[in-house]
Amino acid sequence: MVVTTERDGEPNAASIGIIKSGFDVKVRLFSGTHTYENVLATGQLVANITHDPMVVVETALGDLSPNRFQRRHGQLTLKEAESWAEFRCDPFRLDILIEPLEFVQGEVIRREFRAINRGVSGVVEAAIAATRFNALKQESYLDEIRRIRRIVGRCGGPREIAAMDLLVERLGDFY
Ligand SMILES: Cc1cc2nc3c(=O)[nH]c(=O)nc-3n(C[C@H](O)[C@H](O)[C@H](O)COP(=O)(O)O)c2cc1C
Repeated sequence: MVVTTERDGEPNAASIGIIKSGFDVKVRLFSGTHTYENVLATGQLVANITHDPMVVVETALGDLSPNRFQRRHGQLTLKEAESWAEFRCDPFRLDILIEPLEFVQGEVIRREFRAINRGVSGVVEAAIAATRFNALKQESYLDEIRRIRRIVGRCGGPREIAAMDLLVERLGDFY
């Protein structure tokens, strides 16, 4: 998922894993991220569904320009969202596990047929490894990304390969 938040008119988007167990919905946020600060400040987030691997990389390793957002029913959403859901919460500072997330409103914009694809899954795994590398600077994450990049090269389409290229570019000299 891509979580959109805003504070003082400043939009933000980040790849985030919303956790659903039964009817309970929660999220675990790294402190120091814009998403964490925005959720603490506003008690609100929008979870957007997208299957575009490029957006996963863009929002995990950088920012989106303001024209990539769209206001729907008063909420800041991702323009290319396939569906979105607004959640409210009562966050406490110093607590990175934010629960419960209470569903307020949402919308299914479009549904698409999809097949499981190792290329797309690879980009998601590589993006997670890249955010962990950025936080911890452990060489093993780079090895993992190199291994996944070979899979994406074999199994992914042009969009997945471009997303991996962007990921590597964002890692800069570290890669
Ligand atoms: C698939 C995926 C899932 C992620 N899940 C989370 C998560 O659950 N919580 C979190 O804090 N960061 C998560 N991240 C890392 C954030 O996307 C990353 O820290 C990002 O830079 C935060 O951006 P922000 O500072 O704009 O909020 C995830 C990244 C990826 C690629």
